[in-house]
Amino acid sequence: MTAQREPKRVTLLHIVTVADDNPVLRRKAPRVSRVDDSVRRLMDDMMETMVAAPGVGLAAPQVDVSLRVITVKVDNQLFHLANPEIIKAEGEQTGYEGCLSVPGMVGEVTRAEKVVCKALNRHGKQVRIKGAGLLARAIQHEIDHLDGILFTDRLTDPSTLRKVEEMGDEEIANVEGEAVTV
Ligand code: NI
Repeated sequence: MTAQREPKRVTLLHIVTVADDNPVLRRKAPRVSRVDDSVRRLMDDMMETMVAAPGVGLAAPQVDVSLRVITVKVDNQLFHLANPEIIKAEGEQTGYEGCLSVPGMVGEVTRAEKVVCKALNRHGKQVRIKGAGLLARAIQHEIDHLDGILFTDRLTDPSTLRKVEEMGDEEIANVEGEAVTV
């Protein structure tokens, strides 16, 4: 008898970029009514797609699904969140940020340094996540996607929007955001 291995049912999804001219990136996404198997499947596929990209955050509209679902991976902590909401924000951080939907570009964005985020986890249970630094930045960036906002809407100055290929290695090392693994 041969042991049958269960195939891993994960699909890499297409990431919508601004070049696709898909209105999904600019739509306010509706809330998830219940975290059921289809939402869990979406979360798992998003996490796999994000890690493969590679990126530290992804929002459902970026894979052409208008729903309030995000995935984040920072410091090997994985978050699969539905209906995320920032309930507390403190301090300020200013730094370069990128986005998987705006490939090859980075720009300077000011975000809160620390946030507390309320959401439903992969099991539909209410959770609170406290994040600082990159985790806080990623959560704020992803929640923006759910409201149709891109980092390019939040630049400290339009002149900070730059092509990654025109930056030096040291500058690239200072970029924090979706498009960069840190
Ligand atoms: Ni993004």
